Amino acid sequence: MNLSPLRLAAVTLALSLAPLTLFAAEAPIAASLTLDASRPGPVISRHIYGHFSEHLGRCIYEGIWVGEGSSIPNTKGYRNDVIAALRTLKVPQLRWPGGCFADEYHWRDGIGPREKRPAMINTHWGGVVENNHFGTHEFLDFCELLGIAPYVCLNVGSGTVQEAMEWVEYMTSDAQSPMANLRRAHGRDKPWKVPFLAIGNESWGCGGNMSPAFYADNYKRYNTFVKNYVPGAEGRISRIACGPNEGNYEWTEVLMKNVGNRMNGLALHYYTLPTGNWRGSKGSSTEFAEDLWFATLSRTLKMEELVTKHSAIMDQHDPQKRIGLVVDEWGTWYDVEPGTNRGFLYQQSTMRDAIVAALNLHIFHAHADRVTMANIAQIVNVLQSVILTDKEKMLLTPTYHAMEMMNVHQDATSLPVTLTTPDYAVGANKIPAVSASASRDKAGKIHLSFADCDPNKPATVTCKLAGVAAKSATGRVLTAPAMNTHNTFAAPNAVQPAPFSGATLAGDTLTVTLPSKSVVVVELN
Ligand code: AHR
Repeated sequence: MNLSPLRLAAVTLALSLAPLTLFAAEAPIAASLTLDASRPGPVISRHIYGHFSEHLGRCIYEGIWVGEGSSIPNTKGYRNDVIAALRTLKVPQLRWPGGCFADEYHWRDGIGPREKRPAMINTHWGGVVENNHFGTHEFLDFCELLGIAPYVCLNVGSGTVQEAMEWVEYMTSDAQSPMANLRRAHGRDKPWKVPFLAIGNESWGCGGNMSPAFYADNYKRYNTFVKNYVPGAEGRISRIACGPNEGNYEWTEVLMKNVGNRMNGLALHYYTLPTGNWRGSKGSSTEFAEDLWFATLSRTLKMEELVTKHSAIMDQHDPQKRIGLVVDEWGTWYDVEPGTNRGFLYQQSTMRDAIVAALNLHIFHAHADRVTMANIAQIVNVLQSVILTDKEKMLLTPTYHAMEMMNVHQDATSLPVTLTTPDYAVGANKIPAVSASASRDKAGKIHLSFADCDPNKPATVTCKLAGVAAKSATGRVLTAPAMNTHNTFAAPNAVQPAPFSGATLAGDTLTVTLPSKSVVVVELN
């Protein structure tokens, strides 16, 4: 090839600039934060870091339960690798058996010798046969093994009040009563502790398509027969009512008015779909460009508006904040992984999901006076999972790592922060580039967590700290080379936390430089 002297000069110039334009890191954007540790806010309940497990796809079967005879290493039928991962994650509570499945579940089918349990069709999720091998004993024993608080959802949609009442007696009564004795006959002498009960799931939709007034009456009927069999605070069961779908404020209004203090929590459901489209394509979990990265983060931030507006209605009826807003189901919902059953809701989780998790947790922290519980959907192999399995293999997703890093906030006292951040803009749309939250744990340690939403630009956050006696800062960072970097069974550690060296503390000023698309947790020592 012959190049004219002019073209040769142009090519030489382009090549000499290439390293700069292609590989030079973008200059950090500048954000600032103030924190006054002498003005603490409410405690961030550990229950904000909760999880959800439904009889759906490979969540329960294969994800948690493989059975005692499995070649996959297990303890009493529960996968050992999943047990270990969930211990490290510090799962406070686990919601079960659904979801939509809960309103078709009849608990008596899931007790007694497994080979004698009747099968049913899981009509919501793939139409597969459910053999009921994982039932009440398997779920409650699993929770007990891991020190997790069980959160059981009663069947209001297709069950009866008597069935629900007897289930509660079976699980929690220590009396010489018919249901407690039936439990004993199946090998469990002492009752389990069941601190949380949901009265139905999505009763406005898959749980029975009810109006709020009709559901409120049903709630009261069921609630009357849910007894606290163990006297005192120990045995008190928190009752969580089906709450609104996304922005259905009428539902919240009617429930607060008609049910009020008969409930301890009102459950809000909100999922993040990149395209916002329930009927068409929701978007791929791994194949996306910056427009859908942005759209996903932007849509997930709608949680702030939902929590604020539902809380405002609750404040009018319950100014003393006795009733918690329970964000019962949250997380990303994408198209299923190609080649998998559409009814199984199996999706991957990338660095984008880790940021989604951090943003939502920060919103819940900021509303810790009202948000008393939240459950990401779902724990293994379904939607925004923290764990994926493939037969004997298991991996931890970026969502797992973000939640594990941030679990230092569990039961810590929130320290409200004031954050000034540049925007992250795509086209005419923008969101705050940086998100942050802070708390002081029971040992007195202060933690700050940050997310940089911008996939291209690092961010330097200059934090002015008042009422803090720390001398140094350490931390951990979760970031990745690309927006869609994710862990696979062939490369399970493509995204994992690393020690963070981007924080310096000088006097009352903490300077933190966040890599682009990152979650960072800093501890002040
Ligand atoms: O998490 C999957 C489903 O989403 C649940 O079964 C239902 O409650 C919600 O619509």
